[in-house]
Amino acid sequence: MEYTRISDANLLTEKYMDSILLEERLIDSKVADTSIAFLGDHFAMPVMTPAFSHLKNYNGREQSGLEEYSVAARDCNILNFCGMMENAQFQQIMDTGAKTVRIVKPYADAAKVKDQMQYAGSAGAFGIGMDIDHIFGENGLDVVVGETMGEQTFEMLQSYVELTKLPFFVKGVLSVSDALKSADAGAKAIIVSHHHGRMPYAVPPLMILPKIREALAGRDVKIIVDCGIASGADVFKALALGADAAAVGRSMLPALETGGVEGVKDFLQNVGRELAYIMSFTGFSRVSDIDDSVLHFT
Ligand SMILES: Cc1cc2nc3c(=O)[nH]c(=O)nc-3n(C[C@H](O)[C@H](O)[C@H](O)COP(=O)(O)O)c2cc1C
Repeated sequence: MEYTRISDANLLTEKYMDSILLEERLIDSKVADTSIAFLGDHFAMPVMTPAFSHLKNYNGREQSGLEEYSVAARDCNILNFCGMMENAQFQQIMDTGAKTVRIVKPYADAAKVKDQMQYAGSAGAFGIGMDIDHIFGENGLDVVVGETMGEQTFEMLQSYVELTKLPFFVKGVLSVSDALKSADAGAKAIIVSHHHGRMPYAVPPLMILPKIREALAGRDVKIIVDCGIASGADVFKALALGADAAAVGRSMLPALETGGVEGVKDFLQNVGRELAYIMSFTGFSRVSDIDDSVLHFT
């Protein structure tokens, strides 16, 4: 018999999210409005795209998957994210007109980090950030597509915050400690995430979220959650536990591959519709009203 343990953080996260159930509060409830104000802008819903990279041109279509989902984000009026890429590809994403946050890799090459962040600033990005959960690999520092990553200090984060006028996003926060360091460094947003399970036994983002929310109370830092977000119900649970928004992830890929821009738009709009439906069923007509009083932990 094979010896198995469930150390995969993706499975543990899915299990945790599905263990949270919702009660109904229908009397006096209204049709819900999912729109949000976020870092000085307005969006149709608290749903965001993931910071993806390395997507091909699916089924021989003209635009890469990265451009296709960016167009969908633009058309749905939601905040868009992108990940590891050179400046030329980032420019293609900006050319779609999507309001985009560029998540720069924690490259060991400090000049490259600076160049990509400054480029994002001059290209009119919505924000910049770094995925700090990609520093380490199984042999020390991670090597991503031939590029070595580098350790990141609090002072380095502070220097990124000072590099441009854009809001800075720290992606891959999974502790109160990193949340507080991010806030102290001047980040305007954190993404609570385990980067689709890079570390075994990583705590589910929704499990650590209430502690992070509490620790950041009164600080001017937005909280986004990702990992396993696939439906309006998942987004609702994230908001109820203290997030300001949630980002879909690999759940978006089948729609992207088969349906391109229209496929992703359908997928995102379905997530938004289910969120509105659950908000009405649970008695919350506005996103800012949602709280954890309707959640049941099994
Ligand atoms: C193909 C692919 C490429 C990704 N590239 C990046 C990246 O360059 N930068 C980054 O911060 N995250 C990257 N991610 C991680 C996502 O932004 C996100 O954190 C993760 O997919 C969430 O988990 P989920 O897919 O289980 O929802 C990538 C994920 C995938 C599947």
